[in-house]
Amino acid sequence: MSLRGRLVGAITLVLVGALLAGSVLTYLHAQRKVEIEMAAAMEVARNTVQRRMEELTRSFRPQIHLEETVTIFDGDRHVQATLVDRDGGVVAQSRVPPPENRVPDWFLAAVAPSFETERIDVPSIPMPVGAILLVPDPRSEVDEVWADVQITLTVLASFFIASFGFVSVIISRSLKPIGALAEAYRRIGAGDYSTRLPQTGSPELAGLCQGYNEMAERLGDMAGKNRQLAEQLVRLQDEERAELARDLHDEVGPFLFAVDVDSAAIAVIVKETGGGPRGGDIAAKAASIKAAASHARLHVRGILGQLRPGVLGSLGLAAAVREIVDFHRSRRPDVAFALDVPEASYGEVLDGVILAVIREALSNAIKHAEPRKIEVSIVPMGQEAAVVVVDDGRGFDPKDRPTGYGLIGMRERVAALGGMLAIERNPAGRGTAVNAIVPLSGNNRSALAEAPVGGKET
Ligand SMILES: Nc1ncnc2c1ncn2[C@@H]1O[C@H](COP(=O)(O)OP(=O)(O)OP(=O)(O)O)[C@@H](O)[C@H]1O
Ligand SMILES: [Mg+2]
Repeated sequence: MSLRGRLVGAITLVLVGALLAGSVLTYLHAQRKVEIEMAAAMEVARNTVQRRMEELTRSFRPQIHLEETVTIFDGDRHVQATLVDRDGGVVAQSRVPPPENRVPDWFLAAVAPSFETERIDVPSIPMPVGAILLVPDPRSEVDEVWADVQITLTVLASFFIASFGFVSVIISRSLKPIGALAEAYRRIGAGDYSTRLPQTGSPELAGLCQGYNEMAERLGDMAGKNRQLAEQLVRLQDEERAELARDLHDEVGPFLFAVDVDSAAIAVIVKETGGGPRGGDIAAKAASIKAAASHARLHVRGILGQLRPGVLGSLGLAAAVREIVDFHRSRRPDVAFALDVPEASYGEVLDGVILAVIREALSNAIKHAEPRKIEVSIVPMGQEAAVVVVDDGRGFDPKDRPTGYGLIGMRERVAALGGMLAIERNPAGRGTAVNAIVPLSGNNRSALAEAPVGGKET
């Protein structure tokens, strides 16, 4: 449950508890008040009747005296007096005024459960009347109490509603910056350090926002430096590759060429001079040296093909990707390659990272997956580009096995640019999908916008 929900819930509980306690106290007080009032009324009535009974013996007309005793109670709101004969028949009865308001029956039953009727027997004189009954009638008293209770409960409920509304508004306002803070932290987690928070609200929250802003500032700086370092690393690697390619080409290539030419020359010499008694053997050895040299030259050319795409400068990204694919295609003609790469450059560093991802993903698919088909695509998506390499090979679960350096390197390069790398099952069936999302800088985005739609090739 949210913090706001918890606070509002706790305050609601306290207020409801106070309302309940107030209701119970009001009820107990009302019950007690009715009890006391009714007991007092009955006491007065009893005394009055007893006094009149004492006077009865001195009365000349006892029946009239008794009927007058009953009429004394006319208008009494709490007690009704009834004169009954010896058989219980009503001879005279006082009139009780009805209560002003209509009290709900449940309240009457709750507050004034039952009061006993009191019977005062007439002394045995030669008369048909037998007793005066005093019947307590709590309705008027409860009516008064009901009005009090209504006022008390209305005041309590109004207080409850006002306090609840007031506290809810204060809590909502105070906690508002926390929502923004949570969203800002979520963005930082996703690698976006640009959010800054206004330092408003309570001093504690303003302090938190200030701390967040300073942290975001520092993280942003560090991410920028990291990016610069990653770019330098990629550039250094490219330079190293270029140097290696140059060495291979300039130092090893000419010697292999020389071996090729010299072996051909030996064959010519043997042919022209006959080569002596072992001329045949010499010619055969010269031919095998020539074959080995050709093989080595072919191999060196292949390695150069692998190394050269690292040097993107003159080639461009799309051409470099094609070179890598051609390299694998020449060795694995059984594998079908599908390419969808736009003829665009996203900047030297980004191109280098994209190429490194494609190179490693392709070489993994060829090395580990035994695929029949591999698809390579670069898809521009507004502020990002998706680099996707999908094979239909045997697949693997990256969580199950320890990763080698290839996957780690891919992840690090993409992360250094603030991107994300996902390695998943091929959504179209068997195999693996390597999915890198790399953010494009402003310059790269404009280059993309101008780029022609990349040619598809299979
Ligand atoms: N496309 C794929 N299909 C099947 N298995 C794969 C695929 N890509 C990676 N793997 C598995 O993941 C492991 C780790 O790959 P990673 O590229 O990190 O290391 P590597 O290729 O074994 O060695 P290197 O450090 O030379 O790249 C591989 O050994 C392989 O078992
Ligand atoms: Mg690998």
